[in-house]
Amino acid sequence: MQLTKAGYRLSENINPVSLCQKYGTPIYIYDADIIERQYKRMINAFDVPNFRLNYAVKALSNINILRFFRQLGAGLDCVSIQEIELGLRAGFLPHDIIFTPSSVSLEEMRLAQEKGVHINIDSIPMLESFGAEFPDVPIGLRFNPHVYAGGNRKISVGHVNSKFGISIHQIPHVLRIVEQLNLKIEGVHIHTGSDILDTDVFLAATEILFNTAREFKDLAYIDFGSGFKVGYKEGDNETDIELLGQKFSQRFKDFCEEYGKDLTLMFEPGKYMVSEAGTFLVQTNIVKQTTAAVFAGVNSGLNHLIRPMFYDAYHHIVNISNPFGKKRIYSIVGYICETDTFGVDRQISEIKEGDYLAIFNAGAYGMMMASNYNSRPRPAEVLVYQGKDHLIRKKESLDDLLRNQVDIEL
Ligand code: LLP
Repeated sequence: MQLTKAGYRLSENINPVSLCQKYGTPIYIYDADIIERQYKRMINAFDVPNFRLNYAVKALSNINILRFFRQLGAGLDCVSIQEIELGLRAGFLPHDIIFTPSSVSLEEMRLAQEKGVHINIDSIPMLESFGAEFPDVPIGLRFNPHVYAGGNRKISVGHVNSKFGISIHQIPHVLRIVEQLNLKIEGVHIHTGSDILDTDVFLAATEILFNTAREFKDLAYIDFGSGFKVGYKEGDNETDIELLGQKFSQRFKDFCEEYGKDLTLMFEPGKYMVSEAGTFLVQTNIVKQTTAAVFAGVNSGLNHLIRPMFYDAYHHIVNISNPFGKKRIYSIVGYICETDTFGVDRQISEIKEGDYLAIFNAGAYGMMMASNYNSRPRPAEVLVYQGKDHLIRKKESLDDLLRNQVDIEL
């Protein structure tokens, strides 16, 4: 969303205030233009013969968003059988889906295999059991490169203490299993974390994965996962994808030459694709002066956007009802019956009761991590596409909250 002379505007000059009035708040709004821009930036940044972008469904899985990615030409990265089902319903071919789960059951792996998607294995016990049952199914292997990277501890997943992947130090053991079971390893994979700024971290992890790839002679792809940083704060740097692409593409081509085959270069970004495209719009219920601060209390909370409370994540907040007003200092808080602060000591144009506030960069892991805490319904979602707004998920109702509850006689 941009600040124009007329106030805040989505792409094609759409006024977010009118969307708040039309659909009610709280509401998630996604701007398809920004998703498309991010997709194209990434595709254009990498100059290699075979490139594949598998969108990480976990970031935002509304079926219309998935269909939009299919139209753009992306594949999907899924972590549950349900994400696979959604992807197939959205029209993706099994071949265009990669399943990269962690600690799931063999039963779920079997179901994924039946669907015909690419399988990525994350542990030695699973390699043994899945490999013994399906020796002819080509598989990928997720390695843990022992690199510490990511915006915070909870989203750093490639380090030595993390549950994810097979340790790179266990390669001799992996090779023994592969040989004994005569397995076909079609890909190697790493994912070190989310919200990583430093391109050198990616490049360091890349060398580790190349070393791993050399051990497998019949690869079709190398998957470098994701973790690209977006600008949550105003003026924040994001991962310089163009610079990364420049440095990375040549290195990848050199590796392919050494390997003797044009492998497919894969990434599986979520946040970089949809974070900026999403804005969470809320309405101010109360403006409350206490001895210590001025609180603006809004009609949402950690039940709808938990990132600030769960990760101490910063999300930029503006008052779209009063875009040019005098700035005052506010803490923006939710209506949940425990501390749920969206932002502390923010300079925001003067807020009155009823004003609409926009919380930026809420497209990734916003709605996806929403809950029904305090028995509040989850909000609606709207997609803005080619100058039109489309409701793509209705707000939940009391019936939705009761749907799976079973009345018993007491
Ligand atoms: N691939 C794998 C194997 C992953 O585990 C993830 C994210 C991704 C790709 C996509 O990463 P991204 O491009 O979105 O950074 N809820 C947290 C982020 C958790 C990421 C989990 N895995 C947040 O809101 O920051």
